[in-house]
Amino acid sequence: MNTKVYRLSQIDEAAAAIRRGELVAFPTETVYGLGADATNEAAVKNVYLAKGRPSDNPLIVHVNSVKMVEQYAAEIPENARKLMAKFWPGSLTIILKVKKGAFSKTVTGGLSTVAFRFPDCQPTLDLIAKAGVPMVGPSANTSGKPSPTTAQHVYHDLNGKITGILDNGPTRVGVESTVLDMSTDTPVILRPGAVTKHDIESVIGSIDLNHHKVGKNETPKAPGMKYKHYAPSAQVYIVDEGTDWEQVAKWISEQPFDVGVMAEGRILKQLSLPMNAVQFSLGENVNDASARLFDGLRAFDDQHNVKAIVTQAFPAVDLGRAYMNRLNKSAGGVHFDPNQVK
Ligand code: TXA
Ligand code: MG
Repeated sequence: MNTKVYRLSQIDEAAAAIRRGELVAFPTETVYGLGADATNEAAVKNVYLAKGRPSDNPLIVHVNSVKMVEQYAAEIPENARKLMAKFWPGSLTIILKVKKGAFSKTVTGGLSTVAFRFPDCQPTLDLIAKAGVPMVGPSANTSGKPSPTTAQHVYHDLNGKITGILDNGPTRVGVESTVLDMSTDTPVILRPGAVTKHDIESVIGSIDLNHHKVGKNETPKAPGMKYKHYAPSAQVYIVDEGTDWEQVAKWISEQPFDVGVMAEGRILKQLSLPMNAVQFSLGENVNDASARLFDGLRAFDDQHNVKAIVTQAFPAVDLGRAYMNRLNKSAGGVHFDPNQVK
């Protein structure tokens, strides 16, 4: 199968493929998703196969209206409605109790809940409208690799495995949506994203943050492969705030291989880097850095001499929390340690 890249004028064609039970990757404001008709079990099974995704990891269902949620959710609590009114379309995924039998186990991973997302991306809302069905949409990467923020990233991972990719250029946000579990008494953020804890609390009051799997209590220096995710081939090192970048440059010069350097432009500009350093600018601030993180990590996968990537940390607040969550996972919790510089 040759994977086709659809232009925005070809949404009809992409929608027809979805209706036939085929797989089409679609853009969102966060990352590209791997779309299939959520009501077609065979199609959804193929999503797991194409990604190499463990089958107990449930999928997000993408909708283009609250009405569509009503068709499939057992109930929509008042607070969930408030959040939908405030943040949809947008980067907030809401987990609700699922209507019995509404989706196959393949979608829910056998749970009694399902995650709903209304992306802020008109071409994809049009695609859902034309397909006439909700679409599952895990990030359109090979499982374990950084999420795709361009159609080219998707093509790299899934060419030959899916029918097509709807190309809308690079995504704006760059890190996946906030996942909020509203099926429990106190809502919990399971994954931080661009819609922050503070944003949500300003609408519905106090909620919890799930620190599980964030790598908070992991021993940083053990190349912990524990929750390897978003992982390029090279080892990623988190460069904590306050680290002297000249020390980082010195460490790079001592390595027998090339080292990728991902940092803000102002840092790269001031730094005198050795010959074996390969720069990738994260832009001017945490917003830019979030949009570029996965692109940078992927770029180094194509450079086989790059065996390590040092990447700038940002304060873990607001969008920075989402950025640091992804960076932590891609590094397996490993930090740059100035003491190892000779
Ligand atoms: O921004 C995004 O959310 C992107 C775009 C394409 O929409 N999608 C995305 O999907 O990131 P995925 O499958 O890569 O991540 C979904 C996350 C997974 O960690 C999954 O375990 C969790 O949401 N999830 C989905 N349904 C769930 C449920 N019912 N209960 C708990 N966690 C759930
Ligand atoms: Mg993913």
